[in-house]
Amino acid sequence: MKDHVVVTLVPPGDAIERLHDEAELWVWGGEGAVPRSVLLNEIPTASGLYCTLTEQIDEELLDAAPHLRVVSTMSVGADHIDRSACRDRGIAVGHTPDVLTETTADTAFALLLAAARRLSEGIDYVRDGEWQRWEPELLFGMDVHGTVIGIIGMGRIGQAVARRAKGFGMSIVYSGHRQIDAADELGARRVPLDTLLGSSDHVVVATPLTPQTHHLIDAGALAKMKPTATLVNISRGPTVDHTALAEALDAGWIAAAGLDVTEPEPIPPDHPLVTMPNCTIIPHLGSSTLRTRIAMADLAAENLIAGLRGKTLPAPLALS
Ligand code: DGY
Repeated sequence: MKDHVVVTLVPPGDAIERLHDEAELWVWGGEGAVPRSVLLNEIPTASGLYCTLTEQIDEELLDAAPHLRVVSTMSVGADHIDRSACRDRGIAVGHTPDVLTETTADTAFALLLAAARRLSEGIDYVRDGEWQRWEPELLFGMDVHGTVIGIIGMGRIGQAVARRAKGFGMSIVYSGHRQIDAADELGARRVPLDTLLGSSDHVVVATPLTPQTHHLIDAGALAKMKPTATLVNISRGPTVDHTALAEALDAGWIAAAGLDVTEPEPIPPDHPLVTMPNCTIIPHLGSSTLRTRIAMADLAAENLIAGLRGKTLPAPLALS
């Protein structure tokens, strides 16, 4: 008899066919993320769960899933998964590192350039019919090339951002627990977080969300940044305190922000950050190219199939 697998999204590409060959699938095809009550209703007979970052994989869900052997998330970030609860139950967990690294770093740079060079204000200026003539002082932005970039979290994506920064002739500093050889080879310097905040022209947050990084960028951190600085967040919304960020942008503690991720997601359209001209927000598009999302969907399928077969996952999440 085939295993029963709950799939909470229709993944791009043909991953679903591969899953169909392997298991009996229940696939959520409704609007938006699968409602929690529906998921709790479907999970009791499941041996596998193919999900993404919109589902909370917590004790309650796992308690309702006595047959679950593998959870495969189509995301690299895994802050929605209770790792120790999975470990304690012997459930293997897979995620999708590497395949999205470069695409997400592209997004970081797109946001950095958009925020520093005030692209969304320029676009609105044209759309609103305000553009009358070339003006020597119109919408001055901040240079990106030849400046100092501070990268918080020099993991795979942080390193890919650093490679791009090198191409822009930027000096690179980073913060984190460990010295990273690949970063050192790019000439990046590891510095304490406060030094990074005070010395960087542009700060990119690329660290995973953990209890330690929750609101890492709070009012105190923002106050240490240069008034001309740009803040970019491509990690998870809650690494940045949004109330403090709105105050910082409004009061001119920093010049601009570019957010791929928000707290909450989706951010309500009447949130103060949404209406601020110096805050560029996109709807968590970090890895959103067809090629990359297909690669994520495929890797997540491979993880799931390996887990059902009791094999080592191609991209296991460390559970301790
Ligand atoms: C991830 O995979 O964690 C990203 O945030 C989705 O693009």
